[in-house]
Amino acid sequence: MELVAWLVIVFSVSLAGLLPVVSASTTTPQQQCGGNNVGPAGVRAGYWSPSSNRYSAVGSIDASLYTHLYYSAVTIDETSYAVAPPPPTAEDASLLAAFSGAVKSASPSTRTVLSVGTDEYRVGESNAAFSRMASDAGLRAVFINSSLNLARANGFDGLDLSWIFPATQADMQNLGALLAEWRARITEESVAKSLPPQPQPLLLTATLYFSNHLFGTPDGNLDYPVDAIASSLDWANVLTFGFRGDSGVTAADAPLYDTSSHFSASYGVVSWLDAGLPPCRLVMGIPLFGRSWFLRNKAKNGLGAPAAAAGTKQRRSNQTGIIAYAETEEYLSSQGTVVTYDDQSVAEYFCSGDLWVSFDGAQVVQRKLEFAARSQLLGYFLWTVGFDDSNSTISRKASESWHQYAQGGFGIMHAGGSNQYVAFNSSSVSLGSCYSRSLSCLLSSVLLLVILFR
Ligand SMILES: *[C@@H]1O[C@H](CO)[C@@H](O)[C@H](O)[C@H]1NC(C)=O
Ligand SMILES: *[C@@H]1O[C@H](CO)[C@@H](O)[C@H](O)[C@H]1NC(C)=O
Ligand SMILES: *[C@@H]1O[C@H](CO)[C@@H](O)[C@H](O)[C@H]1NC(C)=O
Ligand SMILES: *[C@@H]1O[C@H](CO)[C@@H](O)[C@H](O)[C@H]1NC(C)=O
Repeated sequence: MELVAWLVIVFSVSLAGLLPVVSASTTTPQQQCGGNNVGPAGVRAGYWSPSSNRYSAVGSIDASLYTHLYYSAVTIDETSYAVAPPPPTAEDASLLAAFSGAVKSASPSTRTVLSVGTDEYRVGESNAAFSRMASDAGLRAVFINSSLNLARANGFDGLDLSWIFPATQADMQNLGALLAEWRARITEESVAKSLPPQPQPLLLTATLYFSNHLFGTPDGNLDYPVDAIASSLDWANVLTFGFRGDSGVTAADAPLYDTSSHFSASYGVVSWLDAGLPPCRLVMGIPLFGRSWFLRNKAKNGLGAPAAAAGTKQRRSNQTGIIAYAETEEYLSSQGTVVTYDDQSVAEYFCSGDLWVSFDGAQVVQRKLEFAARSQLLGYFLWTVGFDDSNSTISRKASESWHQYAQGGFGIMHAGGSNQYVAFNSSSVSLGSCYSRSLSCLLSSVLLLVILFR
């Protein structure tokens, strides 16, 4: 009897310990992120690459399907450390100059963002020029000034840093300094213009690794500087895809869930939230490309089947193993192929002869957007716009779904006492995050042990 009474008290204390976590998560995005300069329906972004111009010219994009279109990307000059626009003679130079005008004449409310970054996707080895620039205050100022000049000169509304990826503790620390100084300079620039009209401050975003913690770096303890990211950026775009490029077996390349590894979109998003990035500063990536392999044995064609090599090089990506959404449609329509939807990981795949492809079709995209809305994220981005088909099938469905969630009010998804940590299939994460954050949880557990063993 006495023990039961004690337990009731202890569990009440435990519950009280949980409450701050739950109520913090019911704050609306607008309340937490008043300053991020985004409409109530959040971010529906797309990256556009000048290399896709041959099959997806800017003028052919239905820009109204996006709140933000990224020009991806210009790079850094390896001697001056300024942002390096394409040489004036290159086709890219005229594409850069025409981009914002073309987007806004198609959709006046769509904002354009100039992404500055590295082309290659590398983990564990930093780009030397970005690393050097970020390490020196003088070079950071050169870089920052040149980025503002190039963005303004070409009618962009914002800037994005796509440093893929910082690879050392020093890189991470310097990244924090770079972002803080960049933000300060953007604020200063927007008030310093003497003549009206006052320009809107440029947006500042960054394209980041899928998880707050980097896997596969020499320094096994590498985390992003979350505080600087949260306080300097309008939002962060996280690359929650492209997990299985080097796999020797068939695999979902961008699963929402994975019970056997960290490489899933949900893991990445939760890691950022647990590290303290407010959900309203987080935008989740959805790939418009799939991953392909040649099967070793056509009879073994499920997930985890042995692969002989990366799949055929396709016209759009011009890379083996990568297939644009539009190209998956060609296989599906011409060969009468059947798509398998894997509910556990949230992924779709098909095989056509001995070619095996995992990709994000409409159903997967829908489930991912539901997850993002339940997690109260600011929005999503598509990578890259030119990989959609000529009807913009996926971009259109994504935009329509997101509008529906926004109209319902993202808060409504919390009705009935649910919260972002309960919304998806990972209850252990929920418990872990409570215990890691809430001292009172811990204290009451200790109390419970003390009482039981007394
Ligand atoms: C950057 O621009 C600001 C404002 O125009 C100026 O004060 C500063 O000297 C510039 N820094 C560099 C390194 O160009
Ligand atoms: C495709 O890639 C090859 C190199 O792998 C390159 O020589 C060729 O120009 C590329 N084609 C296009 C259309 O970009
Ligand atoms: C685009 O839409 C039209 C009309 O709905 C349809 O006939 C056509 O097959 C679609 N094309 C693609 C590539 O989906
Ligand atoms: C959660 O995952 C388990 C197995 O890991 C699966 O059986 C179940 O259907 C999943 N639930 C949802 C809602 O996805």
